[in-house]
Amino acid sequence: MIVTIDGPAGTGKTTIARSVAEKLGYDYFDTGAMYRAVTYKVLQNKIDLSNPEQLTPFLESFNFEIRSKNSTKRYFVDGEDITETIRSADVTSHVSEVSANATIRQALVRVQREFGAVKKAVFEGRDMGTIVFPKADVKIFLTARPSVRAERRYLELKDSNAQTTEEKVMQGLLERDHFDSTREVSPLVQAEDAHLVDTSDLTLEQVIERVMALIPS
Ligand code: DC
Repeated sequence: MIVTIDGPAGTGKTTIARSVAEKLGYDYFDTGAMYRAVTYKVLQNKIDLSNPEQLTPFLESFNFEIRSKNSTKRYFVDGEDITETIRSADVTSHVSEVSANATIRQALVRVQREFGAVKKAVFEGRDMGTIVFPKADVKIFLTARPSVRAERRYLELKDSNAQTTEEKVMQGLLERDHFDSTREVSPLVQAEDAHLVDTSDLTLEQVIERVMALIPS
């Protein structure tokens, strides 16, 4: 059973995917973390995305690892724990551009499908139900009003970034959504057979309940 959860930033995908997977005894994959990890390394190594002579060897040697501890996951690149670093403002402001690159997407989609071989998993991202797992058993598309999404992201970020404001978060989020939804390769769109869940006026528990009700036992 493959469950996919797609949707824009701040809709609660990661928390929902983790909780639903835990309830079902499934594994879960946050594919945004993978795009963020690549972005972190692209910035660190100053990779020119338009130069295949730099990008191809970079992707071939990209060493991404997920280590599970209880129900949380930590992410490593070349042995370095990057779990927190990939949420930085720098990575966040470059991740849309990096994830619009077709060669990078091709490489990550291949890895995601390999992860899907475990058969019982919840995958969350932007193109899980449309491109990566078009035959997934259950597809969910989460939405929420922009003001609600911005407030959620702001609450997540404000302790680690005192400079940020809700307005700045909203602006960044809308720019990223626009870029993710209008890019040529695998844009963020709802799959035709996905169930739409608007989380604006629901508590986390209510969203989990709705999603659980869509998954056959
Ligand atoms: O879910 P997130 O905010 O951590 O995702 C970070 C970025 O990665 C997001 O702006 C779009 C991109 N992404 C993508 O293009 N495809 C995915 N499957 C997951 C994320």
